[in-house]
Amino acid sequence: MKKDFLSLLDLQSEELDELFRLADTLKADATRRPFAGQSVAMIFQKPSLRTRVSFEVGISQLGGNPIFLSQEGVGIGVREKAGDMAELLSRMTAMIVARLFDHALLMELAHRATVPVVNALTDLSHPCQILADAYTMRQHGKWKPGAKVVFVGDGNNVVHSWLELAMLYPLHFVLAAPIGYEPNKEIFRQAVAKGVSTVEIIVDPTTAVKHADVIYTDVWTSMGQEAESEKRRKDFAGYQVNAELLAKAKPDCVVMHCLPAHRGEEITNEVIEGPQSIVFDEAENRLHVQKAVMVRLLESMKAD
Ligand code: CP
Ligand code: NVA
Repeated sequence: MKKDFLSLLDLQSEELDELFRLADTLKADATRRPFAGQSVAMIFQKPSLRTRVSFEVGISQLGGNPIFLSQEGVGIGVREKAGDMAELLSRMTAMIVARLFDHALLMELAHRATVPVVNALTDLSHPCQILADAYTMRQHGKWKPGAKVVFVGDGNNVVHSWLELAMLYPLHFVLAAPIGYEPNKEIFRQAVAKGVSTVEIIVDPTTAVKHADVIYTDVWTSMGQEAESEKRRKDFAGYQVNAELLAKAKPDCVVMHCLPAHRGEEITNEVIEGPQSIVFDEAENRLHVQKAVMVRLLESMKAD
């Protein structure tokens, strides 16, 4: 059976450390070419800088040929059914990386594909991002059982992946969000039920960030929600990660953001450029961690 990476729950707890060690190896030695002679299809329905560049560079560094397929170009689900695309791409490429709106479309791709499928973000989750974030915490000495990660903002796709990470590794994960912006109930329920981590939702950001090891934020309006941006700007007004909020956390607390940032909204210039910010390490680590994921998925095909 081919393996996919659709969610962090496709990983076992013990695989996290193995992937991090593989990412260390690939970061130190860029001479491995396991994808030589093979192509990887990248279907992107939404805009992207980091994800697109880190996958294209990563695939090239691993000896492969990335093929970028925009929504305009291939019209997934419009010009052609996702399943039919998956069938075709499985005959010509070694892997499919997809950034889509609807998670169900990703599942449809994965169901029909006979090559691994990687979630490069959907409206439901962003596992590549959070895996790279965990690796970045490790790089900065924050990857410790019980580490307190406080996400200040919307209970969105990025939060869902944090909740999934919290099912694999013991964290104290807190979402500070206004009422009405809670994450998917089922994912939250599962994270609580799993009992691996302490997970909670707190309305007041000042209370939430007390003793935080990591403060994390993301845009208030995700891709596809642009029509709500005015309302969201008002609803999230008290949820800016600024110097005052950061001062309430542990003195050595680090600040993370998946980027792109809307400076002056969810985060201030001062904080994102300040000494506690590790946002560009996070962005760089997308490359190293995704290379590790792709190498593992390719190996799983050979092991069949
Ligand atoms: N963090 C992230 O996924 O960035 P892009 O949307 O630019 O790919
Ligand atoms: N929550 C954001 C993440 C972007 C990387 C979005 O989906 O637009």
